Amino acid sequence: MIRKAVIPAAGWGTRFLPATKAQPKETLPLFDRPMIHYIVEEAAAVGIRQIIMVTALGKRAIEDYFDRSYELEQLLQAKGDEKRLAEVRRISEMAEVVYVRQREQLGLGHAILTAKDLVGNEPFAVFLPDDVVEAKVPAIRQLLDVYERYRCSVLAVERVPDCDVGRYGIIQGREVGERTFQIERLVEKPKLNEAPSNLAVIGRYILTPDVFAMLERARPGAIGEIQLTDGLEALLGQQNIYAYEYEGVRHDGGTPLGLLKASVAIALNRPDVGGEFRQWLHGLLAGASR
Ligand code: UTP
Repeated sequence: MIRKAVIPAAGWGTRFLPATKAQPKETLPLFDRPMIHYIVEEAAAVGIRQIIMVTALGKRAIEDYFDRSYELEQLLQAKGDEKRLAEVRRISEMAEVVYVRQREQLGLGHAILTAKDLVGNEPFAVFLPDDVVEAKVPAIRQLLDVYERYRCSVLAVERVPDCDVGRYGIIQGREVGERTFQIERLVEKPKLNEAPSNLAVIGRYILTPDVFAMLERARPGAIGEIQLTDGLEALLGQQNIYAYEYEGVRHDGGTPLGLLKASVAIALNRPDVGGEFRQWLHGLLAGASR
């Protein structure tokens, strides 16, 4: 059983400036709730109870979001708004969220290393908050099934078009089961002609705690950052790592356009507003093509 998840949320979010000048990227709304809400909800849905959130200066809004707000609850109670009251309470009860600060933003690998003492010597999940996945079976549950079979680290992968290969970590793998690969090689952001496949690593992982020793030994790369891929490559020299081509739709919330697309997709699927929004969108598109 995996009990803990690490969510690295200490990055600057520069691609969202100026919105992120005074607000953490992770709290930008995906339709009507912060991006990070969907991530913690996915973890809670599979029974992960402790979330270790790696944060930094200027990220207090994340802590406030998952905390209880007695004033707000009293206000909603006085107004008789039971529905919103229940929703607000549910957020603070979804999971136990603990926080650790990454004092210098030295990369994703370094952010995960910051959580080492809180994770301890047990396998754990990692969620990148930019990747919001809509799936019948939560993406992390799909990885857990593979973990339970092999007891090794498991990375979520998806097939990306040729033009996007250079933006991701790409795996070379041997197919060992349906949608399941034993990883032979990992290449970070390869040129298309050097990419071993189109299978790109996305923001869901199950990792064994041995990755920490690898990250501790990793040297900062060209831009002074410790990358998670470097730690995983080193781990691959010592133990098997698997990849699973998850089933679902991923939204890239790491850029303004990606977040907008994700909001549209989520709003269209919402029973309360989807119909009205669809109609409005049709009208807008018809007007624009005239
Ligand atoms: P990104 O590079 O996508 O996020 O890192 P960023 O740095 O916030 O975004 P830009 O490029 O400036 O717009 C992937 C994830 O790793 C976290 C980020 O918060 C994000 O969730 N991260 C990255 C850290 O926690 N610490 C770091 O030093 C770097």
